[in-house]
Amino acid sequence: MIAVYAGGVSGARAAARAGSTIVVVDALRASTTIAVLLSKGARVVPVASIEDGASIAADFRVGERGSTKVEGFDFGNSPTEILAAEIQPGSTVALSTTNGTRIIEAASRAAAIFTGAFVNATALADVLATDSAGGRVTVVGCGWEGHHASEDEAAAGAILYRLRSRGTKLDGRAGRAVERYLSRPVKALLNNSAARRLKRLGYERDLEFCLSEDTVPVVPCLVGGTFVGCVLGSG
Ligand code: MLT
Repeated sequence: MIAVYAGGVSGARAAARAGSTIVVVDALRASTTIAVLLSKGARVVPVASIEDGASIAADFRVGERGSTKVEGFDFGNSPTEILAAEIQPGSTVALSTTNGTRIIEAASRAAAIFTGAFVNATALADVLATDSAGGRVTVVGCGWEGHHASEDEAAAGAILYRLRSRGTKLDGRAGRAVERYLSRPVKALLNNSAARRLKRLGYERDLEFCLSEDTVPVVPCLVGGTFVGCVLGSG
């Protein structure tokens, strides 16, 4: 298997056209929130627009714009808020975010779509290394409104490092993401632009939570437009 690193909408679209499996990485916070929702037994329907998020059939509506909760939705895109919330197993949750769900939509024609973050890096690498053997995996860093986001590159580096240690070949860009992940402590991300935005809005706890590694070992994969938990050998 070969794993490559790409960024944003254009990276997702090109990877989908190439028939690649895609891992959508939005560490702060969409990919982390999806993992937390699945760990509570929920199913997550990602939608790019707020209108769709407000209209599709769902038990709960989760979403943000500019990292602020969408008016009328049940929860903001806060993994710590959702962890503490009463969301019953089997619930269907509509999710719409600034970047994460837009990149998921851009990846929609891919061979398979997973979401990855620091919190599920190892669990995801285990499934990919087993189920995508022989294939091509593109790890896509979502970024922020078309701009590079260092937290997404670092989380992608965490996933790619674990894939490499399981025998996966990496392309040059993926290899550099791993070197940056290994050379810079995750704590260095606590003052990047995404971190400052979340602190300004009072989401400090989300920051610590999203930067913790392997704390939510679930593997979200998109099946029929809905994220459900994937287990080894289910590919
Ligand atoms: C996004 O999708 O842009 C992020 O998840 C934003 C956020 O949660 O603050």
